[in-house]
Amino acid sequence: MKILMVCLGNICRSPLAEGIMKQKIREAGFDWEVDSAGTGHWHAGQQPDRRSIVTAGQHGIDITEQRARQFQGADFERFDKIFVMDTENLRNVLRLARNEEHRAKVELILDYSHPGQDRSVPDPYYDDDGFEEVFQMLDRACEAFVLPRKNP
Ligand code: 4NP
Repeated sequence: MKILMVCLGNICRSPLAEGIMKQKIREAGFDWEVDSAGTGHWHAGQQPDRRSIVTAGQHGIDITEQRARQFQGADFERFDKIFVMDTENLRNVLRLARNEEHRAKVELILDYSHPGQDRSVPDPYYDDDGFEEVFQMLDRACEAFVLPRKNP
């Protein structure tokens, strides 16, 4: 399975989501791929936000090797699952979908921890204290995705 995590800047939320999901699939022994991207282009080429790097590090996850890039239409072909962080990302990604197969790949990541509630991961960019909460939300959602796919 190939999974793409998507937020706006690809420096705060989706790098955390990528790091968390990679750790969980490593623990599960899966041979899956995980990447991340942003709907915006402003931070392309940059390392994740310092606060995301620190928060991930506090949980034993190193995301310093990640570099931001912009989501592109070709990602619909490259990935099986496209997890978006919020409803704005959802709209912007779906706008680039060319067919129903593409649209079916896109889901709000919190639909796994909170099904049917259309919940968004809050953007922590202007909130220094929001990163740990974002980490915990993403950790629960990634766990809820991976756990049922583990062998009994
Ligand atoms: P992210 O957070 O979408 O979680 O990476 C943001 C990063 C940068 C900006 C907005 C959100 N920005 O406006 O530059």
